[in-house]
Amino acid sequence: MTDRLTIALAKGRILDETLPLLAAAGIEPTVDPRKSRKLIFDTNQADIQLVIIRASDVPTFVEFGAADLGVSGKDTLMEHDGDLFELLDLGIAKCRLMVAEPKDLAMNDDPDSWSRLRIATKYVSTARRFFAAKGIQTEIIKLYGSMELAPLVGLADRIVDLVDTGNTLRANNLVEVEHVADISSWLIANSAAMKLKHERMQATISAIRDALEAQDAVA
Ligand code: PRP
Repeated sequence: MTDRLTIALAKGRILDETLPLLAAAGIEPTVDPRKSRKLIFDTNQADIQLVIIRASDVPTFVEFGAADLGVSGKDTLMEHDGDLFELLDLGIAKCRLMVAEPKDLAMNDDPDSWSRLRIATKYVSTARRFFAAKGIQTEIIKLYGSMELAPLVGLADRIVDLVDTGNTLRANNLVEVEHVADISSWLIANSAAMKLKHERMQATISAIRDALEAQDAVA
């Protein structure tokens, strides 16, 4: 009997960019997950199914073995303190995690002189680690979105958030002042499945790796 594999993906940019890669690796859902409210999808491979969940839940599903493989942003992985394998940088959904602040504040601000900051972010652990490593004390305010609003209404002085084009910062008169991390999406795996379903996992991981290399060779 062959082992069944479940791959966890998140709606949005990760799904849009991962589906073509999976297709190139020979894995195609029988129904387009972008056009369905279903959460589980069969694929053309009888022993592989996809589950579509929230981005922040992908590492949890993989860590606990509800999914054998998953695709998760490095930002989410940095926040998730759990046992799983980060196998392969897929180089998709690229952006950067930055400290940003109002333009006016930045004009006379020197990050080297920071000693105590009030930060609004969704990335509480990552931000705490980043500033602690620099010896900067922080009061972190957890938000779930629209971080850019926080400095404009006096909730925080600065934010830690993802920046892609920079349009959201510009539209809100904020500027990037410190680089926290470069972000892209990674193929992740459940550690028990790597042993217990070794053959099926390796075959699937190799197919994805080959598809990625072929894609990079064309680019
Ligand atoms: C992300 C991020 C920024 C924005 C950056 O938000 O949190 O707000 O994209 O992109 P840009 O530099 O190209 O403007 P998203 O739209 O994912 O929603 P969120 O606020 O719920 O995180």
